[in-house]
Amino acid sequence: MAPFFAGVAVAVFAAHAWCTPTSQNERRQTTLPSFVNTYVSLAPIVYLHSTENYFPSDLGAQLANTQPEINYTVVSGAPNPLTLDNLDSLNALGGSSIYLTSIDDTTSNPQPQWLKGVIPDATGKTNGAVSCSIIVCDYGNGTVDAYYMFFYAYNWGGEVLGLNFDDHIGDWEHTMTRFSNGVPQTMWYSQHGSGEAFEYSAVAKYNGGIRPIVYSGNGSHANYATSGTHDHTIPGLDLPIGVALVDYTDNGYLWDPTLSAYYASVSFPSGTTPVFAAYDSTTPVNWLNFVGQWGDEQYQSNYPGQYDVFGQYRYSSGPTGPEDKDLDRGDGTCPSGLPDPCIIIPVLLPGEKV
Ligand SMILES: *[C@@H]1O[C@H](CO)[C@@H](O)[C@H](O)[C@H]1NC(C)=O
Ligand SMILES: *[C@@H]1O[C@H](CO)[C@@H](O)[C@H](O)[C@H]1NC(C)=O
Ligand SMILES: *[C@@H]1O[C@H](CO)[C@@H](O)[C@H](O)[C@H]1NC(C)=O
Repeated sequence: MAPFFAGVAVAVFAAHAWCTPTSQNERRQTTLPSFVNTYVSLAPIVYLHSTENYFPSDLGAQLANTQPEINYTVVSGAPNPLTLDNLDSLNALGGSSIYLTSIDDTTSNPQPQWLKGVIPDATGKTNGAVSCSIIVCDYGNGTVDAYYMFFYAYNWGGEVLGLNFDDHIGDWEHTMTRFSNGVPQTMWYSQHGSGEAFEYSAVAKYNGGIRPIVYSGNGSHANYATSGTHDHTIPGLDLPIGVALVDYTDNGYLWDPTLSAYYASVSFPSGTTPVFAAYDSTTPVNWLNFVGQWGDEQYQSNYPGQYDVFGQYRYSSGPTGPEDKDLDRGDGTCPSGLPDPCIIIPVLLPGEKV
C-alpha cells in the first residue's frame, strides 16, 4: 500500500453488490455502505478561484428556477413542479431536445441570485445546497470508478480581447478516481469537454493527507491539478493567432463537495444504458436518468447581448448531466476518445506551481 494510506482504514469491498441494480425493497433496507465512506474519505477537495462569482449550486434549485423548453417553447404536459424524483419523466416528452430554461432573464443586471450558487462556509460546505453527486461504478473485478460530479448553476466562459464567450446556464464538471482493490490508481480531471488524466500518486493532496486537490477554473469551473494559468481551447472557437483563452486557478475558497452530496451507484446490466440506484430511500436518484440539458438553449442571434465572433457565441447552450459523461470507462480513465490516446500523466506538469 502506498505511503499516503498510512493510518487510514480502507474498507474491504464486497466486489459484487453495487454495480448490480437492486429492487426497490432491497434499496429501502440498505444503509449507506461503509465502502462509500471510503470514497468520501478519499474524495477531492476543491479550491474555487479567489475572484469566483458563480459558486456550486443546489440541484433542486435549478429545477425550481427553470422550465423545460424545446426550440424555445415550453413543453406541455411536464410535471409541475419538476423535482429530482420526476425529472426523468421529461425523457418521454422530448428527452435530449429539452433545455431546462431559466424563468427569469439571466442577462439582467444584476443577474438573478440563484445563478450565483452558494459560497462554501468555513468548513467548506455549501449550506442548504446539494451541489455534488458521487456515483460509484463497481465492475465486480476489483476495479471501481468513483465519479465526483460538481454542479454550478452558471458558467462564465471567460474573456478574450474584451469579449465574453461561452456563458451558459448550468455547468456539470467532474473528476473520477479509479480504484483497484481499494487503492486509488488514477484520476480524471474534466476540462471543457475533454480533460487530463493523472497517476493518483502524482496529484497534490490536501494538508499532506490523502485527499486529492482539484482547482476549479474561475467561471468555467474546468478542473485542474495545479494552481496558476491554463491556456485552453473551446471546440469551435477559432481565435486569431497568438490569442489564447485562459483559465485561472488559485487557492481561493475551499469547497468540500462531500459535505452536501447525493450518492448513487451505476451499472450497465444491458450494455450501454446506465442504471442508477440510490444507497438509501431518502436520496433522489431518478433525476440521473434525465438526458436533456441543465440550462437554456443558446440564445438566438436577435437575443439582446448575444453575439457571434470567431465562430463562437457569447451565450451558448447548457450541458447534459452526469449520465452523458461516459460512466462505463472499462479499461480507460479518460472518457471514450477524450483525449485519444488516453495519456496518464505521471508527474504534475512542469512550469505550473502547486
Ligand atoms: C473571474 O470571473 C469574474 C466573472 O465572474 C471576472 O469578473 C473576473 O475578472 C475573473 N477573474 C479573473 C482572474 O479573470
Ligand atoms: C423551431 O421553431 C421555429 C419557429 O416556430 C421553426 O421555424 C423551426 O423549424 C423550429 N425548429 C425545430 C428544430 O423544430
Ligand atoms: C474489469 O471489468 C471491466 C468491465 O468489464 C473491464 O473493462 C476491465 O478490463 C476489467 N479490469 C480488470 C483489471 O480485469
